[in-house]
Amino acid sequence: MALPPLAPLLPLLPLLLSLPGVPAMALDTSAGAAGCKPHGLCLQSTPRVTDAPPVNVTLYYEALCGSCRMFLVRDLFPTWLLVLEILNVTLVPYGNAVERSVNGSWEFRCQHGEQECKLNKVEACVLDQLDQDAAFLTIICLEEMEDMEKKLTPCLQLYAANVSADSIMACAEGERGTQLLHRNAQLTDALQPPHEYVPWVLVNGKPLKDLSQLLSLVCQLYQGQEKPDICSAMGSTRREVCFK
Ligand SMILES: *[C@@H]1O[C@H](CO)[C@@H](O)[C@H](O)[C@H]1NC(C)=O
Ligand SMILES: *[C@@H]1O[C@H](CO)[C@@H](O)[C@H](O)[C@H]1NC(C)=O
Ligand SMILES: *[C@@H]1O[C@H](CO)[C@@H](O)[C@H](O)[C@H]1NC(C)=O
Ligand SMILES: *[C@@H]1O[C@H](CO)[C@@H](O)[C@H](O)[C@H]1NC(C)=O
Repeated sequence: MALPPLAPLLPLLPLLLSLPGVPAMALDTSAGAAGCKPHGLCLQSTPRVTDAPPVNVTLYYEALCGSCRMFLVRDLFPTWLLVLEILNVTLVPYGNAVERSVNGSWEFRCQHGEQECKLNKVEACVLDQLDQDAAFLTIICLEEMEDMEKKLTPCLQLYAANVSADSIMACAEGERGTQLLHRNAQLTDALQPPHEYVPWVLVNGKPLKDLSQLLSLVCQLYQGQEKPDICSAMGSTRREVCFK
């Protein structure tokens, strides 16, 4: 299946910022803000709304699957930008890979070949070494690029300047990377019901079948009194969703 090239990220931001009800303060693209680089995406330091627990969104995926990349860049990332204060995103890179134990060590076979196994480990190591938000942004940055391994250095520089690509690659190519991918294998294989395809998305533990409904479902499930503005802005156009 031919995939249209993924749109570069930055042109998306003005679009998001111009939507009615978008919390523009959550983004600061100015060069002057503390810790921000020109054109970097800077997170607001004010505390997240905490009058209810966040909605858990877990994505089971593999690094080189086209529809996973589309979902990450076109659905999950915009949703995160809009309602990050009520969202708890967990990424589990592994997907349709299989593992077997060879002489007491885990070996993996990935749907899109060796390189995908390597990139799954890279992303598992990013998730292991970075703070949650920085890891998410770094993985989005990688997944929208053509050559992910080459882009590791610039993506880390944007979102986690204190972590080197060398330390991520040492993890990915070593025992730690194997352990982390094995843990993701166990998480994926334990899914009940089992995943049928990737991207496989759980919202508060239940499979989300219509991926385009992510934002409205998150708004709907959040129990807090104070919902992000975008949630009420969506109210009038919300479609019914089926959620078992
Ligand atoms: C966010 O998700 C992680 C992983 O599923 C979980 O361990 C953590 O407790 C969750 N945090 C909240 C605040 O729900
Ligand atoms: C397992 O280890 C033994 C002893 O080191 C070696 O002879 C054998 O070839 C290994 N098997 C595989 C599949 O690597
Ligand atoms: C990098 O900086 C982040 C945020 O300041 C911090 O939480 C993390 O521990 C640092 N990591 C390393 C490897 O220094
Ligand atoms: C999110 O996941 C954590 C860890 O599994 C759980 O403790 C929490 O209750 C979940 N939150 C919601 C809203 O289901």
